[in-house]
Amino acid sequence: MSAVASMQSPTSSPEPTQKSTPIIIDGLRKSFGPNVILTDVTLSVTAGSAVALVGSNGSGKSTLLRCLVRLIEPDSGSISLLGDDVLSLNRAALKRLRSRVGFVFQKHNLVPRLSALTNVLHGAQGKVPSPRVWFQGLAPQHLRERALACLNEVGLADFASRPVDRLSGGQSQRVAIARALMQEPEIILADEPVASLDPEAGEQIMELLARLARDNGISLIFSTHHLEHAIEYSERVIGLRKGVLELDKPNTELTTSDLRSFYEPSRVSNESE
Ligand SMILES: Nc1ncnc2c1ncn2[C@@H]1O[C@H](COP(=O)(O)OP(=O)(O)O)[C@@H](O)[C@H]1O
Ligand SMILES: [Mg+2]
Repeated sequence: MSAVASMQSPTSSPEPTQKSTPIIIDGLRKSFGPNVILTDVTLSVTAGSAVALVGSNGSGKSTLLRCLVRLIEPDSGSISLLGDDVLSLNRAALKRLRSRVGFVFQKHNLVPRLSALTNVLHGAQGKVPSPRVWFQGLAPQHLRERALACLNEVGLADFASRPVDRLSGGQSQRVAIARALMQEPEIILADEPVASLDPEAGEQIMELLARLARDNGISLIFSTHHLEHAIEYSERVIGLRKGVLELDKPNTELTTSDLRSFYEPSRVSNESE
């Protein structure tokens, strides 16, 4: 077990279903104005499993991931995350839930002039009431130690005091992953986490993300345009086409043509337009 896993505090006896199925989405719908973006998306993810989300640009991947924690407000349907009925949570409860869900974006979303360690400390915001965690020098010793352990997990302990605008794209994404780990997340949602990296850095980041999720028993959904990443780093691949979940298979049953056809423009749907 990794250092981060061993730091996780015991949770108060959750019910078996929420423990075994931390993500349950049923009939999720979202439109922007007249444009229907997600149509009746239904999906469950079991604890500790890694799911790849594929689909061409504009198919609704980011919208789906953001709807899960209401960064985008869905129109209807239901979402259960870690046993919480997400759509009925008030602000405070939603904030608490978000603190248990790590989000890794395509662009890392770090504060550029602050050090790697301070950025990782930001991951503790939802857990610690004091704004002192924002500043490395003021954060309590135990949080600084944990942030350093998270940086160590992503291979960046030696870069703790370096401002993130002096790190490479791959290193910055590692800091973003360390920040997500700092949350001691039970779920990580990663939206095209390697899209802005070169192929080698992308491979390393995917490998790291999948390993950390596995070692820490974290449920992971990552969206990707790399079909080989989808196959290699997940146990199951789901695919959106124009907001409809048209593919959902364990990747042991997946054929290359499943994925290829999925990314080809669909003649059938074009003809029907
Ligand atoms: N805030 C928004 N307002 C209006 N349309 C949006 C908004 N966010 C996304 N969309 C539209 O929703 C569709 C799906 O977008 P997105 O979820 O980002 O797709 P993907 O991540 O698969 O590329 C696109 O057509 C996009 O233009
Ligand atoms: Mg997207």
